[in-house]
Amino acid sequence: MEKTFLLEVSKPEQTMLCGEIMGKLIPRGSIVGLTGDLGAGKTVFAKGLARGLGITQEPNSPTFVIMNCYEGKVPLFHFDAYRLSGGAEFENMGYEEFFYGDGVSVVEWADKIRDVLPANAVIIDIQSQPQAALESRTIKVMGEGKWLLSFRNTAEQALLASKR
Ligand SMILES: Nc1ncnc2c1ncn2[C@@H]1O[C@H](COP(=O)(O)OP(=O)(O)OP(=O)(O)O)[C@@H](O)[C@H]1O
Ligand SMILES: [Mg+2]
Repeated sequence: MEKTFLLEVSKPEQTMLCGEIMGKLIPRGSIVGLTGDLGAGKTVFAKGLARGLGITQEPNSPTFVIMNCYEGKVPLFHFDAYRLSGGAEFENMGYEEFFYGDGVSVVEWADKIRDVLPANAVIIDIQSQPQAALESRTIKVMGEGKWLLSFRNTAEQALLASKR
């Protein structure tokens, strides 16, 4: 069953924390699509994800190379589709090898490759709200894995604790 829920964060560290918690719970072979405007915090979330997967190297933005690979207990394939014209270009780079392997794939600007993104991908949409504080973001999570329930509970509790 498809789940959708929101996480409200008030600073970059909390976005990172959400990514880290997801990295600890996400099953191998998962695909995460990140959407949201320039500077929304997609790379910050991906950095957290890497940390949660036990990767010590900190990802930076792969904008100029389409994909970076990070070795950890579970490998992370970090894509950035910003410069792609669409799914066809993504297909030409042989993305299947990564998407359908046993690592975790994360794609920034996933809306650019909607047509090749599998239906079971988890979508994380990060938005800032016009009236809200500069560093506030609403993180919308959409997906169908059972593990997303534990992710939601753990993230909500961690966010509460970090606000205290
Ligand atoms: N709540 C927040 N979560 C994440 N980043 C935040 C938040 N508040 C402020 N920021 C700042 O916004 C910027 C987000 O940058 P980031 O590179 O993660 O964005 P992005 O969505 O990957 O952008 P791009 O589309 O250029 O790849 C960082 O400088 C970060 O410090
Ligand atoms: Mg980015």
